[in-house]
Amino acid sequence: MSRARAAARGREKVLILDFGSQYTQLIARRVRELGVYSEIVPGTTPAAEIAARAPAALILSGSPASGYRAAAPMPDPGIYALERPLLGICYGFQATMQLSGGEVKKAPRAEYGMATFVRDQPSPLFDRVPKRFRAWMSHGDEVVALPAGWTRIAHTANCRFAAARHQTLPFHLIQFHPEVVHSPYGKQVLENFLFRIAGLEGGWSMKSFLRTAIADIRARVKDGRVLCGLSGGVDSTVVATLCHRAIGDRLTCVLVDHGLLREGEVEEVTRELGRRRQLDVVVVDARQRFLDALAGVTDPEQKRRIIGAEFIAVFEAEARRLQGAKGGGAVEFLAQGTLYPDVIESASAGHGAQVIKTHHNVGGLPERMALKLIEPLRWLFKDEVRALGRELGLPPALVDRHPFPGPGLAVRVLGPVNDRDLALLRHADAIFIEELRRSGWYARTWQAFAVLLPLQTVGVKGDERSYEKIVALRAVDSQDGMTADWTRLPSSLVARVSSRIANEVRGVNRVVYDCTSKPPATIEWE
Ligand code: XMP
Repeated sequence: MSRARAAARGREKVLILDFGSQYTQLIARRVRELGVYSEIVPGTTPAAEIAARAPAALILSGSPASGYRAAAPMPDPGIYALERPLLGICYGFQATMQLSGGEVKKAPRAEYGMATFVRDQPSPLFDRVPKRFRAWMSHGDEVVALPAGWTRIAHTANCRFAAARHQTLPFHLIQFHPEVVHSPYGKQVLENFLFRIAGLEGGWSMKSFLRTAIADIRARVKDGRVLCGLSGGVDSTVVATLCHRAIGDRLTCVLVDHGLLREGEVEEVTRELGRRRQLDVVVVDARQRFLDALAGVTDPEQKRRIIGAEFIAVFEAEARRLQGAKGGGAVEFLAQGTLYPDVIESASAGHGAQVIKTHHNVGGLPERMALKLIEPLRWLFKDEVRALGRELGLPPALVDRHPFPGPGLAVRVLGPVNDRDLALLRHADAIFIEELRRSGWYARTWQAFAVLLPLQTVGVKGDERSYEKIVALRAVDSQDGMTADWTRLPSSLVARVSSRIANEVRGVNRVVYDCTSKPPATIEWE
């Protein structure tokens, strides 16, 4: 391999133009799994902006829209003049046809589910794919006439034009979804597009991402100083370790102990990152301050707002103290564990979407403190962050931790929060997690935790009547936290956890298991 090609390895970028399909993130995932870095941009991004990002290839996503309606999001026609290798999927196929003089109509019969494709012409997109193959469709519109310069490549029983290609340019269009697991040859088709048609090298991996991320942080920070908030979660731990790798002791990590963390959490994080990895970790004991601010507050949204505001105040005070104490330059940067789904959501959402819960991290800090943001994970999905954590040598106990919400146990002690209930919940939660780990179920669920209900019920312990609280157990399976199904834990495991909590946690005499999915529930109870 030449040096130039070697340097290009892992640096190639595919841009995915998003028209609102529910599978757009999946396309990005599949491309990355094939070793090519991909990013998602709004489908209507101007061609000049796309050109400036120097993509090696373009993929146009599906959409719930119909291209022949006035409000439909359309690609900038200028993207075709860039002559980059292009793959149009479903709506991406139809929109391309419309802009090129073809015809798209409502299909007499919508197709949802598996369809059999028959190829009419050979195409490199279908190398190593049989002449007849099954693939997954989800469309209510269809292309009924191809413009000049395009060739039909495949059809199905219901769809005359199910795949097409340009006769001279590297433009390929398909009606089916190659990104979903239900399309058995989907991966082969994407692989053909990336490597045979677009001629990419591949080679993107967490190792190459890590190298680039370190170089980028160094170039940006130069000899400045960086502050990083630690929450005990995977994302902030990975960000801190990554920044430390890049700039060493010019990084200071602040762990705000708001008293709403899980059992042993402060010790675990400081031991692993502080002592073992020699990161500069400052633990701020703000327990009383948070408890005082939360006293008597019942409304979940108010709890979240109070915690957000307190967190900012503590962080600001700590930053000021550090600036004064440490000598050297001022702290200029704040490192944050924003993930790609948050970036995509805030770029494409916001059109009247309802606020279900005010999630918070340290957003709001940069403006108030005039800090510049460093967000090295903003291009990664959650499981990629975990892979990066492993690449950085973090132990499985940290990397594979379940997600934990910013407001912590305050949204798991339902109703007003106090010290006694927090201690009780911490104990119950630790028993649940211990049993999950012991049985191997911790790694098989997306997230599991205990919730303390603000209710008392009658029980009998020994010969005595008790009137005590209820603990609910919650375990869910999910890909990204957006939707979730309750985990079918073995009943013997639930029985063991229930018996241990009711016997070992003083103040609890009843344990229930939450068997609701999201939607209609949410994962956290508040
Ligand atoms: P919900 O309860 O909205 O939770 O279904 C979805 C996922 O997000 C986590 N979560 C939060 N994470 N700050 C966070 O960083 C928050 O305020 C917050 N609220 C919920 C929740 O634990 C689940 O993984």
